[in-house]
Amino acid sequence: MGDRGRIGQVITNLLTNAIKYAPDSDRIVVKTTSDSESVTLRVQDFGPGIPKQLQQKIFDPFYRMDDSQQASISGLGLGLYIAFEIIRRQEGHIWVESEEGQGATFCFSLPLDRAHASEKDIEAAI
Ligand SMILES: Nc1ncnc2c1ncn2[C@@H]1O[C@H](COP(=O)(O)OP(=O)(O)OP(=O)(O)O)[C@@H](O)[C@H]1O
Ligand SMILES: [Mg+2]
Repeated sequence: MGDRGRIGQVITNLLTNAIKYAPDSDRIVVKTTSDSESVTLRVQDFGPGIPKQLQQKIFDPFYRMDDSQQASISGLGLGLYIAFEIIRRQEGHIWVESEEGQGATFCFSLPLDRAHASEKDIEAAI
């Protein structure tokens, strides 16, 4: 159980980022897996990746990497913060796995057992 519209918003931001920040590659890999407790979605790109020390920061509001290659790419720096809040408020986790220069894989997982969840919980909070 979850908020379909809001989860869609998260996926859209992850895909848009993969397109924007990896303009020289022609491949994005999207995978889902699940076990008895949760479902996980991964969006992998083959762009510049994200240095280890910034991998938490990029989820902060208005944070954008100060990178000359990204200087011409527009954005507010809010997409990942909003994604973080949407996933957190549905009791999930969102994170990035990346080695600099080797692309980035953004992942989120959501618990399967959320029969008590209501859209109102999430909408009220954002
Ligand atoms: N796939 C990626 N590869 C490399 N850097 C990324 C990637 N995704 C996000 N980033 C970095 O993280 C920053 C924050 O991303 P976020 O989605 O929050 O904001 P944005 O894309 O700049 O703007 P918007 O609010 O329109 O989403 C980006 O500005 C970029 O520096
Ligand atoms: Mg974005």
